[in-house]
Amino acid sequence: MIKKFLMTPGPTQIPPEVLLASAQPIIHHRIGTYSDLFARVNENLKLVYQTKNVIISFASSGTGAMESAVVNLCSPGDKVLIASCGKFGERWRDLSQVYGLDYDYREYEWGTPVVPGDIEQALKDDSGIKAVFVTHSETSTGVVNDMQAIGAAVAGSSAVLVSDSISGMGSAEIKTDEWKIDVVVSGSQKALMIPPGLAFVSVSDKAWSLVESSTLPKYYFDWTKARKALAQEKPTTAFTPAVSLVVGLDKALSMIHDEGIDNLFKRHIVLGRATRAAIKGMGLELFSPDDDHCSSVTAVKVPEGIEDGKLRTLTRDKYGVQLAGGQGHIKGKIIRIGHCGYYNYTDIIVAITALELALKELGHPVELGSGVSRAQAVFGEEMV
Ligand SMILES: Cc1ncc(COP(=O)(O)O)c(C=O)c1O
Repeated sequence: MIKKFLMTPGPTQIPPEVLLASAQPIIHHRIGTYSDLFARVNENLKLVYQTKNVIISFASSGTGAMESAVVNLCSPGDKVLIASCGKFGERWRDLSQVYGLDYDYREYEWGTPVVPGDIEQALKDDSGIKAVFVTHSETSTGVVNDMQAIGAAVAGSSAVLVSDSISGMGSAEIKTDEWKIDVVVSGSQKALMIPPGLAFVSVSDKAWSLVESSTLPKYYFDWTKARKALAQEKPTTAFTPAVSLVVGLDKALSMIHDEGIDNLFKRHIVLGRATRAAIKGMGLELFSPDDDHCSSVTAVKVPEGIEDGKLRTLTRDKYGVQLAGGQGHIKGKIIRIGHCGYYNYTDIIVAITALELALKELGHPVELGSGVSRAQAVFGEEMV
């Protein structure tokens, strides 16, 4: 019998309470019961986002909400700045290309963060830049960018700051209002602990003023339509929502509420710390920085002589632990351990155990327990 442990940075494990909530008979989305639930979900999402801004939701994956940011903020030919340090940063470039924007693409070495001072300088050099697009938690490398410093770098300019926090929301803290992040995109299948299929975007007043002048085409992803539906006495969405996912989210957010926002982020920091300690204890090398900001996913270099595909197949098929591989030019060179969302010490201990066993079986000289004992030491000291 194989017990399965999903240790990827999306989709992530779902609490049984959330699965049960979503499995209830569906309710209609134009009745008061749904509106009340949707209003509560919106308010509770604001606690995780740490914002008073409007939050719009779409029945789409996270990329849909990213696309919505481009088409609602920009017009053809607009100048935008993209600061990227991984596969998901590239997505802002791809979207900008598709929609005919005049983009300045700055790429930082994968595995290292964006430099906030460069953004500040670029905005000083070119006052025509309308928007700055950055990835908060770069899931492909495990890097978490310093959104507070980036927020400060953009705040003095006329540009709006857009953050892809799809894998960061709920695991790597983002103080949307205090850090002056105008638009924050997130998705359901990461630390929000529900299945894939919902995406969210918060929009500041500064961003709304850009929305008014945007001429790119949009229909389903039109933020103005979404805001109108939200502003009704009984808040709703312009189009049919993914009702069962929203019901699940209501439960997930109540669990986050019960845990408390400070404990939520602290737990993720400890999960990251324990994972990094274990990896180093096993004699493996980290690809993501050895940095407490990196609380969503840990990227690890595949040791010399080990084939990434074989390693991940063995951890999955024999030990039940599904890990993620690398993307883009680092495919085959790293493995990624996701720990954003419904994770605690048990998951990390199991994942590290599987990794040790599989590496040993593939002939890598690893001492069994060398990683697990280091993770245990962190949990013993710091478990939240
Ligand atoms: C940082 C980041 N951005 C964008 C995406 C794309 O989201 P989706 O696959 O939900 O469209 C992901 C998904 O892994 C992500 O982690």
